[in-house]
Amino acid sequence: MALFKSKPKDSGIDLSELNLPVHIGIIMDGNGRWAKKRGLPRSAGHTAGAQVFRKITRYCSNIGIKYLTVYAFSTENWTRPSDEVSALLRLFKSYLQEALDDFRDDSIVVKFIGDRSAFPKELIELMDDNEAISKDRDGMVLNIAMNYGGRDEIVRAVKEISQLATSDDISIEEINDQLISDHLYTRGQPDPDLIIRPSGEHRTSNFLLWQSAYAEYVIMDILWPDFKESDLDRAIVEYSKRSRRFGGV
Ligand code: FPP
Repeated sequence: MALFKSKPKDSGIDLSELNLPVHIGIIMDGNGRWAKKRGLPRSAGHTAGAQVFRKITRYCSNIGIKYLTVYAFSTENWTRPSDEVSALLRLFKSYLQEALDDFRDDSIVVKFIGDRSAFPKELIELMDDNEAISKDRDGMVLNIAMNYGGRDEIVRAVKEISQLATSDDISIEEINDQLISDHLYTRGQPDPDLIIRPSGEHRTSNFLLWQSAYAEYVIMDILWPDFKESDLDRAIVEYSKRSRRFGGV
């Protein structure tokens, strides 16, 4: 059981008695609907969502979560209207500039999963800098999924492994679950235990397809910009009630 570092802020839920997930994934969904409800442009929803992302990341670190993976931009999100994509890229840039300092106090290790080569050069540099500056910290690992798709990740792994087999570096018999996991962006990390999807949608949306084989999904009827620390607590309570059998009985 993972240990808590501090008491949750506002939910009144005592998490210290619960079985904490080691790795949480979050599909940060509902920004557009949140903005629409307020008569605002979709980009305003993403700006509000970015603030919530920062708050929830810090909270996860404070309560002792070891790995947090957030879905910020999928391989499919490029098909959105160009003004929305541009607004998101601007948001990522300003956020990643601040993030260089932001997570220092929490000792958070920042990693990016996905194909960063599709992003503008200055954004790629900021991603590289964030990883380099945080890599020796000893706190929670934060994976930010950007231009990430679970299928794309698996295709890449298959190609890498095929190369190894073709050049006789491995035999076909050596291909197993572990080898595939070792060729994913999340190599070396435990699979997610809990995946939270706010905004009420019941879809995986190509998020951590391989890694989520035995994850518990908690769908919450709340839009991401409205998500609070107490909602994370509620998801953990729900997770702790589930009996995980990993295919056994
Ligand atoms: C999905 O909501 C959300 C996104 C595609 C963007 C998520 C990005 C953030 C929360 C910004 C913060 C991230 C970082 C790293 C700064 P949606 O637009 O699909 O919402 P809808 O389903 O209501 O339309």
